[in-house]
Amino acid sequence: MLLEGGIPVNDLLQKEIETYKRRTPKSAAAHHRAEMRLPLGVASSYRAYDPYPIFVKEGHGSRVLDLDGHEYVDHNLCFGVLLAGHNHPAVVKALEAVLQMGTTFGMPHEMEWELAEEICGRYPVDMVRFGSTGTEVTMHACRLARAATKRDLILKFEGGYHGLHDTALVSVKPTAEEVGDPSEPNAVPQGLGIPQGTLSTVVIASFNDLEGVERRFRQYPNQIAAVIVEPIMMNVGMCMPQAGFLKGLREITAKHGALLIFDEVKTGGKLAWGGASEYFGVKPDIIALAKAIGGGVPLGAFGASKAVMDLITNHQIYHGGTYNANRISMAAGLAMFREVLTRESYADVVRLNKKLSDGYRRVIAKHGIEAYVVSAGANGALMLLPEQLRNYRDWLRIDQTLWSQYWFGMVNRGVIPQPFWRDEQWTVSVQHTDADIDKHLAAFEDVAPGLAKAQQERRSAFVNAGR
Ligand SMILES: Cc1ncc(COP(=O)(O)O)c(C=O)c1O
Repeated sequence: MLLEGGIPVNDLLQKEIETYKRRTPKSAAAHHRAEMRLPLGVASSYRAYDPYPIFVKEGHGSRVLDLDGHEYVDHNLCFGVLLAGHNHPAVVKALEAVLQMGTTFGMPHEMEWELAEEICGRYPVDMVRFGSTGTEVTMHACRLARAATKRDLILKFEGGYHGLHDTALVSVKPTAEEVGDPSEPNAVPQGLGIPQGTLSTVVIASFNDLEGVERRFRQYPNQIAAVIVEPIMMNVGMCMPQAGFLKGLREITAKHGALLIFDEVKTGGKLAWGGASEYFGVKPDIIALAKAIGGGVPLGAFGASKAVMDLITNHQIYHGGTYNANRISMAAGLAMFREVLTRESYADVVRLNKKLSDGYRRVIAKHGIEAYVVSAGANGALMLLPEQLRNYRDWLRIDQTLWSQYWFGMVNRGVIPQPFWRDEQWTVSVQHTDADIDKHLAAFEDVAPGLAKAQQERRSAFVNAGR
């Protein structure tokens, strides 16, 4: 048997999937119904997986309830959006207040200035504009950079994810056959519909390869407008920047007259109080924010120096949006910045994340699993690799069957350890408790012997095949 994406199913994974199906018949039925009207039966293709996804009934604090009435400790948290956890009281109170006063006007109001102040006080930017999604703000960030430099090319990293606009949908998940020479990776469109013209404006380099980035700048002199980078690549589990990598990007871009865009859609809210610029001590030219800053409602923002943002002031580039700075988003954003994303909350979340990561490390060592755990801020991931990954190509080597065994095993034991698929990571929210982490670790302790066994069997099969 194969799961979607050609994942082979071993006996242990088969058992976990059978248990999953036995526990979740109402999700199966809901998915079957949804497939008639929604491609893949879901509203975003990232939510689809075999045999069918869990359908959620409610979320409260650190937990979600599925249609069959099972409760899960939730570390998916809407792909990391919910650092606040579900229905955080401060966010709910702020939303209830604005619901009584009008939700959107298409005219300015004072909350947008207040939120802009919060953002400029926390991240190294002078001015911001708002949007609703990560896709939207990274798209505007790229346009801003192209306009500011009067250049067309954007350098992005193989495996990096910056949303769904045409420039971003290049070399997101190329196959091993498509990637090409590691020193000059191919620009591979992610699916159909990316115009050839756009593809030719995207230059690809490998994460953690400064020499490769330099080479690209030499190949395209005075043509690269910006390097867009997620400071920790979080579309491959978690790939940490090696010491000096982000600083090196800062220097190379400055030397070549290009801008540095930090896509902080994930890191901005979940890594540290001041996002990746604070955490790594590197100041980009443009920052794109979304996800966690909205506390569960759509909110994005992009910001830069006054000189760059003056391109908008001077009507040289177009920026607008019907829902920009609607009251719902502003109220949630203000509640997040003032009451949730505090230094104290980060300290708490980091403590719990350390407890979780250390617990994983103990279990991994005890059972002799070939894996490691990576964590930073509110994020972490079990990486089924023998050593730290440096880039997308290392990530391609993760055993998908084993990873699926881990994920279904955890879910069957009442813990959603992260969104489905090995490219994501867990989030610890401000509403998680020590009891949640204990439950998570108990589930992992239960799943671990099966992972060790499956790895051992694979190794033996490999050795026997070699005889
Ligand atoms: C780093 C990064 N950038 C951009 C996006 C796109 O954000 P959205 O899904 O809100 O459009 C994502 C979404 O996961 C992301 O992780």
